[in-house]
Amino acid sequence: METKREELLLDRELTNQARIVVVDDDIAVLNSIKRILRRHFHVVTFSNPLEVEEYVRLNNVDLLLSDEMMPEMRGSELVKRIHSEFPKICKIILSGQAEKDDIVKAINLGGIFAFLFKPIDPEQLIQTINNGMENRKMKLKIIEQNQELQSANDMLSHSNNMNIKKNQELEKAYQELSAAHETLKTTQAQLIQSEKMAALGNLVAGIAHEVNNPIGAVMSASDVINRCMNKINLLSFDNTADSDLNKYLHMINDNNTIIVTASRRISKIVKSLKDFARLDEAEFQKADIRQGIESTLTLARHELKNKIDVIKEYDDIPHIHCYPNQLNQVFLNLFVNAAQAITDKGYIKIKLFTEKQYLCIQISDSGSGIPDENLKKIFDPGFTTKGVGVGSGLGLAISYNIIKKHNGTISVNSEVGKGTTFIISLPIEQIL
Ligand SMILES: Nc1ncnc2c1ncn2[C@@H]1O[C@H](COP(=O)(O)OP(=O)(O)OP(=O)(O)O)[C@@H](O)[C@H]1O
Ligand SMILES: [Mg+2]
Repeated sequence: METKREELLLDRELTNQARIVVVDDDIAVLNSIKRILRRHFHVVTFSNPLEVEEYVRLNNVDLLLSDEMMPEMRGSELVKRIHSEFPKICKIILSGQAEKDDIVKAINLGGIFAFLFKPIDPEQLIQTINNGMENRKMKLKIIEQNQELQSANDMLSHSNNMNIKKNQELEKAYQELSAAHETLKTTQAQLIQSEKMAALGNLVAGIAHEVNNPIGAVMSASDVINRCMNKINLLSFDNTADSDLNKYLHMINDNNTIIVTASRRISKIVKSLKDFARLDEAEFQKADIRQGIESTLTLARHELKNKIDVIKEYDDIPHIHCYPNQLNQVFLNLFVNAAQAITDKGYIKIKLFTEKQYLCIQISDSGSGIPDENLKKIFDPGFTTKGVGVGSGLGLAISYNIIKKHNGTISVNSEVGKGTTFIISLPIEQIL
């Protein structure tokens, strides 16, 4: 038998030939196999199976042909060991007829490709080895294809993951965009409203100024008339003598009373206008919510007309820090909405009370109510169920923002056909 060193040298020179390791304790058999195979393959022989494992580890072996019955180790055991570490190597067992049953068992365990019986038939041996090599080639090809498939699969799942990530990023960007759009809509609504308020403020200031002077004149003139009437009444003349004079004096008196009442009413409206817009004190300050509600009610009287009873249940409430003119806007929006929801006769109930650290304003109406599907939309800018030109759908959106600016909350309960209740809670102590 050639030494291992010699074989290793040979290995390097014959790298293109299939490398076959033959193991048999019978030297005569080994030599005969070597003679048969060496024309076709690069053959390395071992008479001791214990030396094979190390050789296989250090060299590229394509096929292992092993005798079964050897004193150091059975061939099927050797094949099993080699198979666990090198499954790609093709394994063929050589055995005597007597060991047939053992070999059949070993085939299943060690990945054996074939078994041959002694005495060796050279043609059969070469044929089996060729088949084994072919089988190995196919196996390797399948392994290679499997690896390609696996890497394609990996790439696919990688790109799939990338897609999922991209989708998530897109989804996030979309949500951010929607949120920005919502903010924009609200800001726009607020802008429109603050422009409206500024215009209304100017108008109110103009009207209040213009109306105040003539009304002052009317009131002082009526006061003069009143005093004149008192003087005339003191004059001693016979009232009965001239019943016409008497009649006209009474008429003057009555009409003067009407003028005084009407002038007082006009003054009150002017004051409410000024209170409502709080033009002289538009900034953050301590204010009486009750007074705000009252002046707003005066202004909303036209909307409420005679069809709506206003029920007031006011507890003693503290003055709070707020933007009074903005809160009045909220109250007006709620009163107008309530009035518009009441078709025939109905009521609006206003409750003022405190709850823990909050001042609560509850405004209920006996109107048409809000269907469930609309409830979550009523604070959205632009949402309206009123016809074109009637509602702009901004009232509640603006109210919501004003309350938010006060660190408060506004919530709603409603039942179709029964009515709606809005509850505003404002912190009694503001930490701004
Ligand atoms: N008290 C209420 N009863 C019934 N529905 C209401 C009430 N308040 C609000 N709504 C519903 O909510 C919608 C939105 O109200 P919001 O005040 O924001 O807008 P609008 O009243 O339609 O228009 P705008 O106030 O701009 O004139 C209304 O169109 C209405 O359908
Ligand atoms: Mg409204």
